[in-house]
Amino acid sequence: MAVKPLFLLTLTLIWLGTSWAHPGMAKALAGLSSLAQRQSIPETELLADLKTLPDDALSPAGWTIKNILLINRAAVLPQDLGTVYTVPGPLDSPECRSNTCCVWKYIADVMAAAFRGSGGGECNELARQAVRLGFHDAGTWSKTKGGGGADGSIILAPGEMARSENRGLEAIAAQMMAWYAVWHPHGAGMADLIQMAATVAAVSCPLGPRVRSFVGRNDSAVPAPEGRLPDETDDAETLVALFEDKTIVLGELIALVGAHTTSIQRFVDVFRAGSPQDSTPGVWDVLYYNETASEEPPPGVFRFESDESLSRYPPAQEFWQAFANPADGQTAWNNGYAGAYVRLSVLGVEHLNDLKECTGVLP
Ligand code: HEM
Ligand SMILES: *[C@@H]1O[C@H](CO)[C@@H](O)[C@H](O)[C@H]1NC(C)=O
Ligand SMILES: *[C@@H]1O[C@H](CO)[C@@H](O)[C@H](O)[C@H]1NC(C)=O
Repeated sequence: MAVKPLFLLTLTLIWLGTSWAHPGMAKALAGLSSLAQRQSIPETELLADLKTLPDDALSPAGWTIKNILLINRAAVLPQDLGTVYTVPGPLDSPECRSNTCCVWKYIADVMAAAFRGSGGGECNELARQAVRLGFHDAGTWSKTKGGGGADGSIILAPGEMARSENRGLEAIAAQMMAWYAVWHPHGAGMADLIQMAATVAAVSCPLGPRVRSFVGRNDSAVPAPEGRLPDETDDAETLVALFEDKTIVLGELIALVGAHTTSIQRFVDVFRAGSPQDSTPGVWDVLYYNETASEEPPPGVFRFESDESLSRYPPAQEFWQAFANPADGQTAWNNGYAGAYVRLSVLGVEHLNDLKECTGVLP
């Protein structure tokens, strides 16, 4: 069989979220595509306690996360477009207190209102920063060196927010502290607030994915190790190695960086502050992939070197083109992003089987 059709099939099975793909086959194909990229990663990796817990010991959330990490789309989909959670009672009622997701419904409603644009239904600056904050808190984890992860330290630890890579997150950082002051007395932790804000923000953007959302992370006030986040001058090889050290494989990296569909840079080039990374920054569309890979950026669009390098990286072509496709790229990307974001959102969490799913609270 020629290589090309096989890769397209791989993409179809892995990224389109088809429910008929045989789990073993999806896994084998996931392994195959990583193998072709680096020859060293046999398949997507499990994390933390899910590496050792037998299936019959898994909680519902543990089982869901495990199958999302394995890209087992036959078992679970990384987006949940349907589940709606209804609160069992007022915020401080016994009914509400005894149900994990109840307080999160109240929180998600407040967040969603804050992320709605002032007009036209586009997601706003606070939403964009919330998506990025979720990445910058969780993305400090390293599988080889430990430390960091989705633990709230980006806000709770002294000095972490002040690092240069976190410039541009000031508004959401202030908002997070305000939300923490209100919701921590009701039992919500900072790590969960940050990750919930990131998924509420994504789905608040027009066309945004409804990413499966989990709560129960532990907080930490220990600053994450430095040097764990990417730089806009990094080339593709550097970025691939950096993200692989977080168990994030190439296809997942290409899906995640698509978050720049809703990005407006201010600090990469201060003379062009306010220029977006695609021509529609308030919309979670796939134009970013087309406009980053095209010969010339559209007028007004500012492209990062890192993103251009990824778009030209030969092993990334199949992913990049699949997501850029105006016909079916949106579904492929939303599922790809959602699966990859679930992985990102639990990096460094030690007991994934203790988490609870509250996706139903999302707008
Ligand atoms: C591949 C490596 C990445 C690099 C080098 C990178 C770098 C950057 C830079 C330099 C900015 C502009 C900051 C500013 O000037 O205000 C930015 C914005 C942003 N990034 Fe990334 N990023 C990467 C991956 C990601 C990922 C994985 C996500 C989320 C899953 C993400 C989400 C965002 C968002 C939403 C913004 C827009 C923030 C705003 O408009 O205020 N980025 N990124
Ligand atoms: C971007 O979209 C245009 C119009 O659909 C198409 O002609 C072009 O080939 C696309 N470019 C890339 C790099 O995907
Ligand atoms: C949080 O920490 C406690 C105490 O160390 C532990 O029992 C619990 O499993 C941890 N939760 C997660 C999600 O890692």
